Amino acid sequence: MTDSPTSPLVNLFRATHSLSERLRQLHQRLLPTVPSLDRIACALYDATEDRLKTFIHSTRHGQPLQGYEWPLSESQSLLKLAETGEFRVLDTLSSLPESDHPHARWLREQGYQSSFTVPMYGPQGLIGFLFFDSSETGAFDVRVQRDLVMFCSQVTMLVNSEMAMVKAMLASTQVARDFANLRDFETGAHLERMARYAKLIARGVAAHYQLDDEFIEHLYLFAPLHDIGKIGIPDRILLKEGRLNEHEHRLMETHVELGCALVNKIMGDFNLQSLPDSTMMRNIVACHHELLDGSGYPRGLSGDQIPIEARIVTVADIFDALTSPRPYKGGWRNDDALAELQRMAEAGQLDPLCVKALRDAREQVLKITERYQDKQLPDGPAPAAH
Ligand SMILES: [Fe+2]
Ligand SMILES: [Fe+2]
Repeated sequence: MTDSPTSPLVNLFRATHSLSERLRQLHQRLLPTVPSLDRIACALYDATEDRLKTFIHSTRHGQPLQGYEWPLSESQSLLKLAETGEFRVLDTLSSLPESDHPHARWLREQGYQSSFTVPMYGPQGLIGFLFFDSSETGAFDVRVQRDLVMFCSQVTMLVNSEMAMVKAMLASTQVARDFANLRDFETGAHLERMARYAKLIARGVAAHYQLDDEFIEHLYLFAPLHDIGKIGIPDRILLKEGRLNEHEHRLMETHVELGCALVNKIMGDFNLQSLPDSTMMRNIVACHHELLDGSGYPRGLSGDQIPIEARIVTVADIFDALTSPRPYKGGWRNDDALAELQRMAEAGQLDPLCVKALRDAREQVLKITERYQDKQLPDGPAPAAH
């Protein structure tokens, strides 16, 4: 291995580790060439909500910036970089334009003195930014910039290719959903809401369970797949108005195994076994009806046998089921649903920290509930969820 900044990139494309891990390895290998490089971070841009969110980082000293989102439109200088595709070099961070911005404040608190910022693009436009920071002033001279720009294009390719894999996977499940009328059954709004509740919970328990932003982003993307197996359930059960009898319940419960088989098949078809966090996708589908006291299905797992991603999705999914109206019941008020989750946590069924995280985020929960409302179907409210 030479000291060239591009040679370590070979490792970047070996998808055996998470992107965060690969970025850290790469950072280590860039140090002989750029010794004063103290931090590399990539923030992703969500165009539908105009938000930049922290994603992966490699931070040598101090507290990393994690779990942070902010509107791109509030950052004029980044907005300009996004539009022009230019890089930004700041030789002293006191010259940072949004000097009161929490992000800028954090950079100064950590003792960073200079920075280099590069926008990243994918086929559909801006996908995010790469930030390089140093505790030395003027660390990013023309030679360093040239080395880092080469590095940036490789990281951009990598992030793009991983996102393309995830999107291909999600798109293929969407086709399957459309094909199977699942769209009529499970409104898009339910999936939008529960994915966002899951993200809120994950943020709330991130410190305790050591979940990084990459994990949380994948959880957010994969949470809506939890019930994908319902595309294999006959319409007479799936679309039945009113409660299911016991036999129908048994059949409905097979959606978990059907979902696991479907995810495995799609992963095989797309050759996605190496996708980081593909285990997370499987766990969400396989374990979202398991309960901590062993009373869930299909396997009756208990305690630590149930992975954190599934615990989070379970709480988010139950909360949305309780607060959504069904043909046989009205939607519960958020506070009543949160109280019921608390009761289930105290009974040992749900992860108490996940429930607490949702309760602590009451106001954000309410915003999500209000923003992503079910469209009334022509012939009444959404069908039953079982
Ligand atoms: Fe389910
Ligand atoms: Fe659901």
